[in-house]
Amino acid sequence: MPDLGRVSAVSRFYVTTPIYYVNDVPHIGHAYTTVTADALARWHRLLGDDTFFLTGTDEHGLKVQRAAEANAVAAHEHATRTSARFREAWELLDISYDDFIRTTEPRHHRSVQQFLQRCYDNGHIYKGTYAGLYCVACEAYYTEDDLIDGESCPIHLRPVEHLEEENWFFRLSAFTQPLLDWYEANPDAVRPEGKRNEALGIIRQGLEDISISRTSISWGVPVPWDEGHVFYVWYDALINYATGVGYGEDPERFATWWPDVHHLLGKDILRFHCVYWPAMLLAAGEAPPHRLFVHGYLLVGGEKMSKTRLNQIFPADLVADFGVDGFRYHFLRDTVFGNDGDFSYEGMVSRYNSDLANNLGNLLSRVATVVAKKCGGVGPAPRPDSPLAPVAAEVYADTAAGWQAIAPSQALEATWRLIREANAHLEANEPWKMEPGPALDAVLGDALEVLRIVAVLASPAIPGTCEEVWRRIGMPGTLRDQRLPAAAGWGGYPGGVPVTKGDPLFPRMKSGS
Ligand code: MSP
Repeated sequence: MPDLGRVSAVSRFYVTTPIYYVNDVPHIGHAYTTVTADALARWHRLLGDDTFFLTGTDEHGLKVQRAAEANAVAAHEHATRTSARFREAWELLDISYDDFIRTTEPRHHRSVQQFLQRCYDNGHIYKGTYAGLYCVACEAYYTEDDLIDGESCPIHLRPVEHLEEENWFFRLSAFTQPLLDWYEANPDAVRPEGKRNEALGIIRQGLEDISISRTSISWGVPVPWDEGHVFYVWYDALINYATGVGYGEDPERFATWWPDVHHLLGKDILRFHCVYWPAMLLAAGEAPPHRLFVHGYLLVGGEKMSKTRLNQIFPADLVADFGVDGFRYHFLRDTVFGNDGDFSYEGMVSRYNSDLANNLGNLLSRVATVVAKKCGGVGPAPRPDSPLAPVAAEVYADTAAGWQAIAPSQALEATWRLIREANAHLEANEPWKMEPGPALDAVLGDALEVLRIVAVLASPAIPGTCEEVWRRIGMPGTLRDQRLPAAAGWGGYPGGVPVTKGDPLFPRMKSGS
């Protein structure tokens, strides 16, 4: 079978989510990026790749300081509490991160200081005065042209503030040409294509130097060469991706993982990731990231979800209705990763019923019922020449291509084709009407083999359910020990093992329940 899932010859996969601000509790927008990163990490672990999945919380900056003041607690206390909420949400959603970074950790402070000291020593940082219009919610300065009605932030639609202070500046303007050269030499570095063009547009307009330190607040990483200054939250935050793999502490480890990283991010933070971050890395003498995948917004009623718009939906509310895997599946399958997607409860019910309850759930329950009734509960082996065998081979290739392209909806669509074909195969043969014997065994063995392969291929998206399928069809060990592509090869179901009939995997939901 062709080895379609490899990311590089070294078989390593490093994936990150943005680190989330602790002024807000986790909502489904945060979960969307995180579940996607998790599924990718799980896919690469199945491939046998050495995988590292980093997420965490962004805890400095004015926004967090003010959120803490509003709650009448110290900034660090506030950050600790909210960071814990993110960890709880990720535990609920079966997120298998390898490391959770908090920007208030000493290891991160050390890494930021070393990284920016390198930029300073290399002559890319200088002192100046900054006066500008600042949006606290974005933690960013705007020009008047960017503002709505000359006064409001284009993202948060609320008035910006006038700030003036002595700052350290990063000589971003000097990186216009190096960035253009890097973009040209790495046409796939920023995906999808439209987002690459957007980033190139920003660079081609000409880049201005940016202020990277603040004296007006103390809640941040101190500038090592100038007491009284802290780094502006974004320049500390971006460096988390380097801290996570040992920057400044373990050069060997850093060299192992960097720059072959896959950053996932929403389009709201494209400029920081696709323009500033590669420039900062060049300034520090490091290579820019291998891949930046920019995805769209999850909209609710046509609007971006946010605290200020009071339209947030929290993971636990949906998990209560759809289960963890119902939640994960929906967000991976329903929106093309890269585009905006409009969330609706009705849409979620309908996708759940069709794909999970009817297709996957039904296949397992039909097979287990007939095996119990007509084969004494022992699953027969598949046929080597089953008509489903070539379908399974195509499905593996398409599924692998989907995950490789960071297109979970495409990968899952491919996997579900095998489920649909197996259900059609059952309907054509009607094993529930057949007499026990070799003909019946052949039909059931093939369907059990499909269930085994689907359990492997769908496990990055719906891990808990797939482990349950694995157990019910009588497979030994756990799915985590399976390796692709071998585990997707036709003929792996041994036969002669007990098949368990259990409760429905996904009880059907009533529309509007
Ligand atoms: N702290 C910065 C990121 C620093 S990364 C070095 C930040 N944090 S955030 O809490 O605002 O989270 C931003 C990310 O959360 C987005 O880029 C996106 O990945 C995810 N999302 C938050 N709301 C979202 C939607 N409504 N839709 C899709 N993703 C969203 O920015």
